Amino acid sequence: MSHLFNNYGRNEKIEFVKGEDVYLYDTDNNQYLDFTSGIGVANLGYSFEAQKTAIKTQVDQLIHIPNLYHSSIQEEVAELVGGDDYVGLFVNSGTEANEAAIKFARLKTGKPEIITFKNGFHGRTYGSMSATAQEKIQKGFAPLVPGFKYAEFNDIDSVKALISPETAAIMLEMIQGEGGVLPANQAFITALAQLAEENNILLIVDEVQTGIGRTGKKFAFEHFDIQPDVFTLAKGLSNGVPVGAVFAKTAYASVFAPGTHGSTFGGNFIAMASAKAVLTHMTPAFLDEVAQKGQFAFDYLQEHLNQEPNIAKIQGIGLMIGIQLKNANQIPMIMQKLQDDGLLILRAGKDVIRLLPPLVMTQTQLEIGLEKIVKVVKEVG
Ligand SMILES: Cc1ncc(COP(=O)(O)O)c(C=O)c1O
Repeated sequence: MSHLFNNYGRNEKIEFVKGEDVYLYDTDNNQYLDFTSGIGVANLGYSFEAQKTAIKTQVDQLIHIPNLYHSSIQEEVAELVGGDDYVGLFVNSGTEANEAAIKFARLKTGKPEIITFKNGFHGRTYGSMSATAQEKIQKGFAPLVPGFKYAEFNDIDSVKALISPETAAIMLEMIQGEGGVLPANQAFITALAQLAEENNILLIVDEVQTGIGRTGKKFAFEHFDIQPDVFTLAKGLSNGVPVGAVFAKTAYASVFAPGTHGSTFGGNFIAMASAKAVLTHMTPAFLDEVAQKGQFAFDYLQEHLNQEPNIAKIQGIGLMIGIQLKNANQIPMIMQKLQDDGLLILRAGKDVIRLLPPLVMTQTQLEIGLEKIVKVVKEVG
């Protein structure tokens, strides 16, 4: 018998025991090209030596101190994230980062309501789950945290209709990741930022999946030319060591006064050593390469799949790409065939194949994976 809950519906047939470069290896030493990055986490792959060295050095030096003392490494990582424009605090996961953002919004404004978007995803703990307007995520867990209202993504009128004098914040992803790799459109984000400013409402961007280089910019909101009041991070921030973070504009630094929020393990030395290595790698030249590879992958898929009868749409930004199928039932078969052929992909939403290859994947490696995807999608179609 298994001694674990079955909450993940795991693939019990494969166990990965080794990672190298952008490949994973199972117990029989079969090699898999990874187009998942551990769901947007191992963005710098499995052989990111700067991270490994930083962690090993830190382990020998000191693993944990409580957040009651000055931490130079937290200061350094926070500066690498937000420069002088933002201040932050560290937690251990995406959902915890969003909990902190929700608390921040209520504390700052003294108002209870937060507008989020249908089909979005913000996490599994009560606040973040209540922010997640998806029945399948919330089902069975009532009563939820009150105060959340759900608007239609990319529909500014639906947001206007929900604004009240009690609205503290609007919270959203720039690309709905779990919801099916659905990018926001520019007109919507411009109007949303303006609406928030005019009504003194905080704009919170959840960058848990899109942040730290995934879209070819450090943060996805940079594509939309906005500066959110608050943003959250996790996943790709430290290439696999649990970490999360919430950042707010420096002008709001006093909102989280002593005693208002905390996390025992938040910003621990191992996570910070790892995050520092990751952030140091995010140079403009590296991000440009990611953008170029993303464009290459997108163009390749457009060229080879767009006319296929089973394809509804291909969309995404940078190396976050979704292939929407007309028939969602094809997805398990496509995933299985690709796995048999040594390629790992993800599903998102109901009917979308989600590709999140490590940002360090070469164009040649990308092309090998894309070729396999095109072949299998055509076969199944
Ligand atoms: C946009 C977004 N927010 C929050 C979360 C929750 O993060 P975590 O699983 O680390 O709690 C996720 C996870 O998929 C996510 O994609």
